Amino acid sequence: MMLIHSTNEFSAWRKSVANQTVAFVPTMGALHSGHHSLIAHAAQQCDLVVVSIFVNALQFGDVNDYDNYPRDEQSDYLASITAGANVVFAPHQQELFPADFDRYLTPSSIANEYEGRQRPGHFAGVVTVVHRLFDIVQPDIAIFGAKDYQQVAVIRAMSDDLHPTIRIVLLETVRDTDGLALSSRNARLSVASRLQAQVIPRALQAIATLHAQGETRSHMLKSEGLKILGLVPSIHVEYLEIVQQDTLNTVAEARNAVVLFAGVLDGVRLIDNLLLQ
Ligand code: PAJ
Repeated sequence: MMLIHSTNEFSAWRKSVANQTVAFVPTMGALHSGHHSLIAHAAQQCDLVVVSIFVNALQFGDVNDYDNYPRDEQSDYLASITAGANVVFAPHQQELFPADFDRYLTPSSIANEYEGRQRPGHFAGVVTVVHRLFDIVQPDIAIFGAKDYQQVAVIRAMSDDLHPTIRIVLLETVRDTDGLALSSRNARLSVASRLQAQVIPRALQAIATLHAQGETRSHMLKSEGLKILGLVPSIHVEYLEIVQQDTLNTVAEARNAVVLFAGVLDGVRLIDNLLLQ
């Protein structure tokens, strides 16, 4: 079990285990049960598990959001090891992005809408750091959560292009008992707004139920979701869209679709999604 900060030290370790399979779980720390489930799954897939902890300034639009991102390396290290990690790689800013770094990536067009539109530059930051981490970690598989559905699609496109040997694995969103998707941001909700936030999974579930009953028209599914979200007027809905699972294009008929949601409640931005099977 090791905590490694330096890229050189990490690369030396990686060479020393060249004949073993490595599963990689990239994170920004503030680990919760959603992250733990990815790490536990990783441990079942490969000989060794690497978890990275790096709060990536490139993907934050708002400098306050970056500064206020929760950081507790020691507790994240322990949580990673407990969940099944062998090595926690927590590089300093200069290690990943030295002053002369100039290999910024442009994400595929899958990044254009939804999160990409609401958070300009976000996915460029995500693919740039994940590409950099993939180069250093050289994993056999990399594991991501469906909670950030568009993020995985954008990373998959980058990886297919630049790291074709790495298998991208997508795991289900872990939810609280009331259905709210686990997120480090949930802690910023007041007690009252935490209760109101339950309307988000309820709206997504209502759409899925209507879809399971045979309704495939996207506008009908969407208005069902908006009706339920409307029960909490303080939620500002940024988007609620029914999109194709692979391309993320909006569809009039929901087949192999996924509902994407983003909204702001009590000053906290929350995202969620649900597959329509
Ligand atoms: P972070 O938000 O720390 O998330 C790390 C991984 O945990 C991502 O794959 C995310 O989708 C997954 N995750 C978060 N909440 C989850 C939940 N409730 N259930 C299941 N998985 C969940 O996503 C990032 O960091 C960064 O953008 C990163 C990919 C590390 C690049 O900086």
